[in-house]
Amino acid sequence: MKKFYVTTPIYYVNDVPHIGHAYTTVAADVMARYKRLCGFRTFFLTGTDEHGQKVEKAARSQGMGPGELADRVVVRFQGLWKSLNISNDHFVRTTDVYHQKAVQELFKIIKEKGDIYLGEYEGWYCTPCETFWSEGQQLEGNLCPDCGRPTERLKEPSYFFRLSKYQDALLRFYEEHPHFVMPEVRMNEIVSFVKMGLKDISISRTTFKWGIPVPEDPEHVIYVWFDALFNYVSAAGYGWDRDRFGTFWPADLHIIGKDILRFHAIYWPAFLMSAGLPLPKRVFAHGWWTIEGQKMSKSLRNVVDPHRLIEEYGADALRYFLMREVPFGQDGDFSHKAMAHRVNSDLANDLGNLLYRSLTMTLKYFKGEVPSPGGDMRELQGLASSVVRDMEALMDQQAFSRALERLWDLVKGVNRYIDTKAPWALAKEKRHEELATVIYSILEGCRIIALLVSPFMPSKAQEMWDQLGVGKDVAMASINDATWGGLKPGTKVRKGRPLFPRLDEKAIVAKIQRELSEQVEEEITLQEFSKVRLVVAQILHAERVPGSKRLVRLMLDTGEEKRQVVAGIGEHYDPDVLIGKKVLLVANLKPARLMGMESKGMILAAVWEKGMALPLFVEDVPPGAVVK
Ligand code: ME8
Ligand code: MG
Repeated sequence: MKKFYVTTPIYYVNDVPHIGHAYTTVAADVMARYKRLCGFRTFFLTGTDEHGQKVEKAARSQGMGPGELADRVVVRFQGLWKSLNISNDHFVRTTDVYHQKAVQELFKIIKEKGDIYLGEYEGWYCTPCETFWSEGQQLEGNLCPDCGRPTERLKEPSYFFRLSKYQDALLRFYEEHPHFVMPEVRMNEIVSFVKMGLKDISISRTTFKWGIPVPEDPEHVIYVWFDALFNYVSAAGYGWDRDRFGTFWPADLHIIGKDILRFHAIYWPAFLMSAGLPLPKRVFAHGWWTIEGQKMSKSLRNVVDPHRLIEEYGADALRYFLMREVPFGQDGDFSHKAMAHRVNSDLANDLGNLLYRSLTMTLKYFKGEVPSPGGDMRELQGLASSVVRDMEALMDQQAFSRALERLWDLVKGVNRYIDTKAPWALAKEKRHEELATVIYSILEGCRIIALLVSPFMPSKAQEMWDQLGVGKDVAMASINDATWGGLKPGTKVRKGRPLFPRLDEKAIVAKIQRELSEQVEEEITLQEFSKVRLVVAQILHAERVPGSKRLVRLMLDTGEEKRQVVAGIGEHYDPDVLIGKKVLLVANLKPARLMGMESKGMILAAVWEKGMALPLFVEDVPPGAVVK
């Protein structure tokens, strides 16, 4: 049996998932579902990258251990994949025991081969990118050339991998496999990079602890990228499931963002050559999304939080948009305007409306039963089979948007067919046989469209099949079911709700504009700022507001008076622990009423994630002290 093994990057757990992660994972899911449809035994892997200095640092800043942070964040990824209908066969965490064992085993094999030696690393390190940089590679002022953030100086004992030894072998491999890296421009970049010369790379660290220990030298932890890349073999069964590993390795497709191409196109094949393992067939580096025309920042994230997008548009529409809007490999911009427009034009108008009118006519002219065709159906049949063929070639190049464009030729083709055949006129003229052929063709077109769109929009495809009365699970279907004539005459159709309700594009755009403008940081003058009267106040009394999870009633001593403030901090603080603490109060804020209680002023809290507001506590200053 033919097999297909596709992967996403494993995502760092220092941060919660956002639309960039969703993009890669949806693309891999579409590929996996398409290959399953084509009869491949498919293994689809995703997971999380949990070791390294970046995760350790993020955990520390949140006052927990790195393992605890990983446990908290991993469920966020798994939850999002569930909401997005991601069909991964396995989820790897680099803290899984089988993975750690495999990495240590491979480290030993590569060392025994003579490709790992002990030395000293002296240079720079970018923690956000988990990348070593030499003096010459850095930007002026010791900034990371990839992300522009400050790097840190390192001088520590380190194991090195003899990457330099593999320069020629890599160049030969690229030449023999010109599609190893896609798109082509990225392959060219990699070839020129390698031609400039490769240096040995550091693959262990001694100045922090959160990683897999180097075998027989536990003072060192293995460099997070050496650890992470091997997830693709460990999760495929290396060292613990010979059958699975034998079936699926080498991977057919690693889908990644262009930010991490060098690791996948240079280090990874070199590690595998050294370990004596077969190399993956392809690394596809897709482009980068901006948000409403801007670089994705923490504050912009709310606007495109994947859960919010799923709620507003539905998981299938989001999947469709991501795959359709931007040619895979190129950069793109996510805007609500473009999203709403796609939903209305492609999904509500073209696809949803096609199904709706087809079923309406079937109900009207044939009492809801698929009629028996008698005449010539070559027109749509021919179009459908050429679309099936073209899509196959496009999917094999990961040209997702072009594959969908081609599929929409069929959607539009069937719509046009309805308009030209005008079944309503045939009905009026009582040309029953022709009418039956036309209606059958339309319904059969819809059935095939649903099958072909199923890797992209699995739930909507199923809804289409259900309404058409196909009575099968579209996820279990085969591409052979795209053969014309599969729909059985006599089948009862069931018209349901419209597949995609129309959206009010104007209202959506206005709402987002409003949200974005609220985020613009307006400059203020010193005089304006000095209007805010900030004072230190001590909490004398604190209790929950009955009936609210969030609100806490505080009695404060402001140095001059006692006053009541109602604060939204109850989700994270037990009122009792607040008593005696000193906080910062905006003393001249207009009083407000919250759940019927007067609140005179507001206390300052630090917010770094939606819903997480932690009050700032003050020490060493008496109540009444003014902050300016
Ligand atoms: O790099 N546009 O993990 P990571 C498109 N752990 N894709 C984006 C994106 C954006 N704006 N932002 C992120 C790591 N991505 C390593 C990988 S693999 C052995 C180890 C996607 O959490 C894109 O796929 O930083 C990118 O490559 C990935 O998220 C980086 O995820
Ligand atoms: Mg990253």
